[in-house]
Amino acid sequence: MKDSTKYAHLGRPKPELATAVNPDITRASTLLFDKAEDLYRSDIRAYGRHGSAVHDAVCDAFNHLEGGVGTSLTPSGLAACTLAIMSCVKSGDHILITDSVYGPTRSFCQGYLLTMGVETELYQPRIGAKIEERIRPNTSLIFLESPGSLTFEIQDLPKISKIARSKGVKTVVDNTWSAGLTYNPLKLGADISVHAATKYIGGHSDIMFGAVISRDEKTAKQVDKTRKFLGYATSPDDAYQILRGFRSLTTRFERQEQSSQELAEWLSGQNYVHRVLHPALPEHPDHDIWQRDFSGGGCLFGVVLKQVDQKSVLKFMNGLSNFGLGFSYGGFESVAIPCDPQLGRQFDPELSGPLIRFGCGLEDVNDLKGDIKQSSNAAF
Ligand SMILES: Cc1ncc(COP(=O)(O)O)c(C=O)c1O
Repeated sequence: MKDSTKYAHLGRPKPELATAVNPDITRASTLLFDKAEDLYRSDIRAYGRHGSAVHDAVCDAFNHLEGGVGTSLTPSGLAACTLAIMSCVKSGDHILITDSVYGPTRSFCQGYLLTMGVETELYQPRIGAKIEERIRPNTSLIFLESPGSLTFEIQDLPKISKIARSKGVKTVVDNTWSAGLTYNPLKLGADISVHAATKYIGGHSDIMFGAVISRDEKTAKQVDKTRKFLGYATSPDDAYQILRGFRSLTTRFERQEQSSQELAEWLSGQNYVHRVLHPALPEHPDHDIWQRDFSGGGCLFGVVLKQVDQKSVLKFMNGLSNFGLGFSYGGFESVAIPCDPQLGRQFDPELSGPLIRFGCGLEDVNDLKGDIKQSSNAAF
């Protein structure tokens, strides 16, 4: 069964007499029992934090999306990243994270985890099999993101996960870029895949939500135990919106993916552009790995401009009207940000020009081109 068919039907209540198409939203902290004997049963939900039918439906959808066996839901995408990490590490461990990781994930590792006695080492995202040289006896985790945030490097996950597994090291992949529709880290050997469902799956830029999906039961149990220790819970209203997002995910994503590829190709021919960072373009340095491991793209890509001053970059950004200026992506509206102020890298990405990130929404791609054209004519 194709994903689009599956997501139209997943997690829906069995029709009885005039049944709503989606599960009910149950808002509750207290759940009442008619018998005191049942209060401490371990086989039932006893409290609001333990979820509801709509949460179960969302977990089913994520398990299907990633081909996983267990999902833990989190109140944001960053919380999904940090939960996955905390489930795999203990004091005294060493972890490896890609230099291209989402900035706040990196800050969490280098800041918070450091105070907890966990050492973080950054690795060059194109390290491939050489990751083996970085693994120490106390390495417990490799955290990947592919493509990397802002700079869009593709990692050789099959090689990295194979080496990690042979050494008892867990691999976690932040799979937000592909929405889980065009990249399947668990099938390529990762132990855990994480999503900022805030992006495509919410789809309307009005929900913060995350998910951690595990490849095997043992890992899934460990992640959910950690979630319970931390007290992470998600609201049933948000979970409902995420389930609703799944219903239209494939259609929205296809449009965004197509627009992003068309825009990336078009931009690579513009005279003010030095380089386009989109793995679907044949000139991307990791295009071959992308073709091998991905079945498609995402909505997000980067554009390195030829050398222009900061004033012109800001003039270009401020002149856009179909692209909102804002962080995040994956919603119905297109967005753009200048990236240089947040491009902290240990290994130089060698951009040699200002970097702008575009995220395509659902607008007509010719309107998006027209917007970029009018603003670049005025600015460059
Ligand atoms: C790759 C990636 N991971 C995680 C996150 C964090 O998600 P959230 O904003 O839901 O915390 C983001 C947000 O931009 C992201 O781009």
